[in-house]
Amino acid sequence: MTNKVDVVLGLQWGDEGKGKIVDVLAGRYGVVARFQGGPNAGHSLQFEGQNFVVRSIPSGIFREGSVNIIGNGVVLDPISFLDECDALQKRTGIDPRERIVISRKAHIILPTHRLLDAAREAAAGKGKIGSTLRGIGPCYSDKTGRNGLRVGDTELPSFKEKFQKLSALHTDLLAHLGFDCDPHYQDAEFFEAIGRLKEFKFIDCEFFVDGVLKSQPVLAEGAQGSMLDVDYGTYPFVTSSNTTAGGVCTGLGVAPGRIGKVYGIFKAYCTRVGSGPFPTELFDKTGEDLRRIGHEFGAVTGRPRRCGWIDLVALRYAVTLSGVTDLIMMKADCLDTFDTIRACTSYLIDGQETSDYPYDISDGRITPVYTDFPGWKTSLADIRSEDALPKAFMGYVKFVEDYLGARISIISLGPDREATIERK
Ligand code: IMO
Ligand code: MG
Repeated sequence: MTNKVDVVLGLQWGDEGKGKIVDVLAGRYGVVARFQGGPNAGHSLQFEGQNFVVRSIPSGIFREGSVNIIGNGVVLDPISFLDECDALQKRTGIDPRERIVISRKAHIILPTHRLLDAAREAAAGKGKIGSTLRGIGPCYSDKTGRNGLRVGDTELPSFKEKFQKLSALHTDLLAHLGFDCDPHYQDAEFFEAIGRLKEFKFIDCEFFVDGVLKSQPVLAEGAQGSMLDVDYGTYPFVTSSNTTAGGVCTGLGVAPGRIGKVYGIFKAYCTRVGSGPFPTELFDKTGEDLRRIGHEFGAVTGRPRRCGWIDLVALRYAVTLSGVTDLIMMKADCLDTFDTIRACTSYLIDGQETSDYPYDISDGRITPVYTDFPGWKTSLADIRSEDALPKAFMGYVKFVEDYLGARISIISLGPDREATIERK
C-alpha cells in the first residue's frame, strides 16, 4: 500500500491561507477531506478573477470530478452547511451533492449550540474566548460529554426523540446562564435542513478512506491553526478540536502509519483573531500597515485581525508537533515595502531567554527577542520563478528554513492560484 493521506495544516492561529493551498494542491488529489472544526473556518480561494470563501465545504469542491469528505472529526451545522451549498451552486452551477460525502459519525451543531456559545461568551465577560459563535465549543462538549447527535442518527426513527432530549438539556443550561432567548427559535429550519442533508451521501469515513487509498492518495485539509489546538494551543484561548496532525488520524479514521507528507502553512508575518496571548503582536503603525496591506479582516466574522511579526518560537513548536515535512510560506509579498523585517527567535521570560515554547504564555509575561533582516523593497507579486526572487528575500527564507528545520517547498505571493512558486 503506497498511497497515503497527505495533510495541509495551519501552523499559526488560523487564516494562514489553507484554502488557497488546498485549491492549488487539489489538482493532484482527487479526494480532499476535512477532519476537524466546523463553520468557524473561513477558507478563501481565488481563481479566474473570482473570490470564494468556504466554511464547512472542503476546498477541493471547485475541481471537476473531485470527492470531498466531511470527516467524523468535523462538527456540521446543517443550516449553515446547506446555505453554503445553495450559495455555491447558485454561483458556480456545481451540485455539491455530487462532490461531497459526509461521515455518519460527524457531530451535528444544533441551533441551541450556537445560543450556548453566545451565552457562555456573554457570561465570561473579560475572559471571553472571542469565539466565532458558531456553536463549535458546545457541540464538541456534547460530543465528549456523550450527549451529542451524529449525522448517522438522522437515519434512525429515534432522531426526533434524541433531538428533544438534547434540546431540553440545552434549554436548562441556557436558563441557568440567564440567557434571554427562545431555544426553539430555529427548530423548524433545523428539521428542514436535516431533511435536505439526507440528499447527500453518508459514509463510514474509516472504511471509505481505506477504500480510496487502495487506488489514490487523499489530501486532508486542516481548519484553524496549530496554536488553536485544544491540547497544544494557547489554552483556554483555543478552538475545541485537535488542529495538529494527530487530529487527522482520529478525525478521518486513518492509522498514523498512513499519514504521508505534512504541509505546514504559515504567513511571513502573523495574525490572530479573537482573544488570547500573542507575544509578537504590534500595536503601532507597523501593525496597522500589515492589516491594511494583508487585508487582515476575518473571512467569517469580518473582525479586524490582530497583526504582528512572525513568531519562530511558536512556529518551531508547531512544526515539531505535527512532523511537518514541507513548509509553505504565504503572503511574503505583503512585506515588500518594509525597511526591516523582524522575526521573533526567542522569548525573554522573567529575565530568562528561551526558544522553547513555554507552558504559560499569558499576555504580558513574554518579551519577544527579534532577529532583524533588511527588507527587499521590491514587489514580489508578479514573480513566478524561484530564480527571479531577490537575494534579500531568499536570505530571509533560508534563515526561516534553518530555524524551523524543514524545507519551504512552496512560496505563495498573492491570493490567486497562479501566484504560487514551487521550489525545485
Ligand atoms: P480558519 O480555518 C482564525 C478562533 C476564534 C477564537 C477561537 C475559538 O479560517 O483558519 P471557536 O469559534 O472555534 O469557538 O473560536 O478560535 N478561530 C479562528 N481563528 N481562523 C479560524 O479558522 C478560526 N476558527 C476559530 O477567533 O479566538
Ligand atoms: Mg479564517
